[in-house]
Amino acid sequence: MVQRGSFHPRNSSTVRFLPRKSSPLALTFQIFCIFAFSVFLFLLVYTRNSLEDEQMQQTFLPRKSQSQSQSQSPQRKVGLVPSPNIPDEQLWDAPFSYGLHPCIKPTAKYKAAINSERYMTVRSNGGLNQMRTGIADMVAVARVMNATLVIPQLDKRSFWHDSRFVSYYSLCFTGMSLITWGTTLVSVFSDTFDENYFIKTLRGDIQIVKELPKELETAPRARKHFTSWASVGYYEETKQLWKDYQVIHVAKSDSRLANNDLPVDIQRLRCRALYQALRFSPPIESLGKKLVERLRSRGGRYIALHLRYEKDMLSFTGCTYGLTDSQSEELKIMRENTNHWKVKRINATEQRAGGFCPLTPKEVGIFLRALGYPSSTQIYIAAGEIYGGDTYLSELKSRFPNIVFKETLATKDELRAFANHATQTAALDYIISVESDVFVPSYSGNMARAVEGHRRFLGHRKTISPDRKGLVEIFDELESGELEESSLPHLVQPMHLNRQGAPRKRYGPSPGIKGRGRFRTEESFYENPYPECICNSKKHSE
Ligand SMILES: *[C@@H]1O[C@H](CO)[C@@H](O)[C@H](O)[C@H]1NC(C)=O
Ligand SMILES: *[C@@H]1O[C@H](CO)[C@@H](O)[C@H](O)[C@H]1NC(C)=O
Repeated sequence: MVQRGSFHPRNSSTVRFLPRKSSPLALTFQIFCIFAFSVFLFLLVYTRNSLEDEQMQQTFLPRKSQSQSQSQSPQRKVGLVPSPNIPDEQLWDAPFSYGLHPCIKPTAKYKAAINSERYMTVRSNGGLNQMRTGIADMVAVARVMNATLVIPQLDKRSFWHDSRFVSYYSLCFTGMSLITWGTTLVSVFSDTFDENYFIKTLRGDIQIVKELPKELETAPRARKHFTSWASVGYYEETKQLWKDYQVIHVAKSDSRLANNDLPVDIQRLRCRALYQALRFSPPIESLGKKLVERLRSRGGRYIALHLRYEKDMLSFTGCTYGLTDSQSEELKIMRENTNHWKVKRINATEQRAGGFCPLTPKEVGIFLRALGYPSSTQIYIAAGEIYGGDTYLSELKSRFPNIVFKETLATKDELRAFANHATQTAALDYIISVESDVFVPSYSGNMARAVEGHRRFLGHRKTISPDRKGLVEIFDELESGELEESSLPHLVQPMHLNRQGAPRKRYGPSPGIKGRGRFRTEESFYENPYPECICNSKKHSE
C-alpha cells in the first residue's frame, strides 16, 4: 500500500521515502542498511534509466510521412540564389499563420464535472516533458472514467545530481529512516507545478484532490498498466473496474492515450490541461520570466538551441562521429552496461548517414550560419552537460561567440534552489525555449516535441527542425572538400524552407504500417495539436 509522506528532509523541496514495511532488528541494522543501500542504488539506476526508454525508443524510427513531406533534397543544380544578407524578418519572424489561433473551449454538449467518489492515483514517469504530457493525458482519462484525480506523484529522476542523497545514506545509519525493499523515490508535485492553480483551472472538467481520503488509504486498489496509445473505448471498458474497486492506481502515465481519433472535447481538455492548468510552480515561473527578460535586455532577440549533445544520448544512439577513440569506447561500454537499451551494436557511420544522430555543436554552428544568422546572434543553450565540454562547444562558440547558458544568465543565488533538481532546471529551459524568437532542436526528443507543439499552439512561433539526413550529406562533402562553407546557404536554406513550424495538420501514421505499430509512428498530439486546439473560426477560441 502506498503511504504518503512519512519523512521530510529539512528543505521543503524534495523527495519522499515511501517505506512499505519497517524492520525492528536493531542488531543487524547496519548490515541491513548496507544491503538495502545497494538495492536502493540498483533500483535508482534502474528507474532512472528506464525513464528514458520511451524517449530513446523513438530514435530508430524514421518518420516516413514527415520526411517525405518535409525534406526536400537539396537542389544543387537549380540552386536558388539567396542574397548573402537575409532580411531580419526572414530570420526571426514567425511563419505566416493564416489567422489561426488557439481554441480550447469545450463544445456546447460538454457537461460540467461531476463529483465522483471513485479515485484515480497516478505515478507519473519520465523526464519533465513526459511527465507533463502524461499528466495532461491522465486528466483526460479521469474525465472519461468519471474519476476524481488524486494529484500525481512524480518520478524523481534527478537523483545523481542530488547532493542530499549523501545525507539520506547517513540517515540510514542514524536510524532515523529505514530504507527497505521496495523503497521508492518520488518528488512532490508542488515542487515543480502550481498545484492549487492546476486544481482550480480544471474545476469544470474533473475533480482533483491533493490526497486520497483517509478512509480509502487502506482500501484495495486496482493496479493498472494502461495499454499505450489507448482509445476512449478502452477506458470506457476499463470502467468495469469500478464494480470491484473504489481506487485505481495507474503505474505509468506516459503515452497512455492515443494521438488521434479521440472526441474533440477530450483533445481540447488535453490542451487545457497542458497549456493552461499545468503551470510551473511560482519560483520556477518567476525565475524563468526573469531570465527571458535578461536575454531580451542583453541582445533583444535570441535563439533557444536544444543541444542534445549529452552523454546518455550519444551512448544510446551510438553516435561517435568526431569523438576520440577513448570517448567512443566509453560510450560503447555505457551502452553495453545499460540492460534495457536493446540495440548494442551500432554502426556509427550508418547511424549518422540515416539522420539518427544529434547534430554536433560544430554542425549546429555551420547550420545556423548557413541559414544566415549573423555571428553576433544571441544563442541560449537549453541542455544539460554537453559531452566533452568546451572541446566541442568551442567549435560552436567560434562561429557564435554570443552563447548563453543558464549559469551565465542567472546568479548563483538564483540557481541554488534549482541546481540539484534536473526537473526544475529542465523547466527553466522549457520556459526560455517556448518564449524564444527561434527554437532549434538539434535532435528530436520529448523536449523538442513538447516545445514545438507549445509554440505552434501559441501562434506558430518559429521552430527550425534540422533535416539531419540531408545536412549530413552536405557536411560530409564539406569535409571532403567537395563543397565550401560559402556555398552552403544555397543548399541549406531551400532544404529548410518547409521546416520552420508553419501551420500544418498533424501527421498520421507512416504509410504501410498496420496494427498497433502504427501508433508509434504517428506524430504526437502534443507536438502539433492542430486541428483540434488550433482553429480559424472564432468559435471555441480562448
Ligand atoms: C460518467 O460520465 C458520463 C459523461 O459525463 C455521464 O453520462 C455518466 O452518467 C457518468 N456516470 C456515472 C456513473 O457517474
Ligand atoms: C559501417 O558501415 C559502413 C557503411 O555501410 C561500412 O563501410 C563500414 O565498414 C561499417 N563499419 C563496421 C565497423 O562495420
